[in-house]
Amino acid sequence: MNVIESVAEMQRIALKAKGEGKRIALVPTMGYLHAGHASLMHEGRRRSDLLVTSIFVNPAQFGANEDLDKYPRDMERDMKIAREAGVDLIFAPQPVDMYPPEFQTWVDVERLSLPLCGASRPGHFRGVTTVVCKLFSIVQPTLALFGIKDYQQLAVIRRMTADLNLPVEIADMPIVREIDGLAMSSRNAYLSPENRIKALCLSRAIQSVLESYRGGERDVLVLDRNAREQIAAVKGAEIDYLEFRNGATLELQQQADDQTLLAMAIKIGTTRLIDNCILGEDR
Ligand code: PAF
Repeated sequence: MNVIESVAEMQRIALKAKGEGKRIALVPTMGYLHAGHASLMHEGRRRSDLLVTSIFVNPAQFGANEDLDKYPRDMERDMKIAREAGVDLIFAPQPVDMYPPEFQTWVDVERLSLPLCGASRPGHFRGVTTVVCKLFSIVQPTLALFGIKDYQQLAVIRRMTADLNLPVEIADMPIVREIDGLAMSSRNAYLSPENRIKALCLSRAIQSVLESYRGGERDVLVLDRNAREQIAAVKGAEIDYLEFRNGATLELQQQADDQTLLAMAIKIGTTRLIDNCILGEDR
């Protein structure tokens, strides 16, 4: 498994492979890999001839007061996880090569980027779509894989890919959870042992809403109260957003149905965690 830093070199290898008729799969990441990333890699391995994972902590998707500088990084560990998952190439460019001083072109998905994380983190999705579009152009994948833990990100990337007629299939993979229910995330590394326990309020809120929904409750006000009670029961847990929206359009809903998305971002101390579920899906 090789690690490539150069943008030009990565694109040259990709274009050559594509010319030879190889199927390229891309798993875009910001590193600090975990079992969730590995599940994307295993699926990418199964469905491609050349499996590339990008490791790039993308400055363009972090706000001024966010955790860009302290975002966890461990290249040695990432290489081990990627190698074991069957990755052929790691693409790990430098920020200055992705965003040289003369850089001035951005990709912006308008409506889908506005609510939820887009409202809490202005400019975040513009950074995500721009870097993913660049990665598609550099790595030339026919398949790109994303986790549904970042549900809105996935929706925004699908929209961008369709709107710009990019010849890339977008595959999504289920949320991978720790045994106690916490959704895997690189940011879990920030949690103290005490906050790690508190963080279980996210999956508890989801479970509680799902039980209520499966029991026949459809009133979003009731389901919302239900979820908020689970978060409020934990001292130090603060709701950034907790919303019930249509899973396709991301519009707010008053009555829940099988396509309703429950999405939340909760701060546990200084760590902001996200989680979600679609009410009608098995999990
Ligand atoms: O989900 C992530 O890790 C990032 O947002 C992505 C898709 C790699 C873009 O930087």
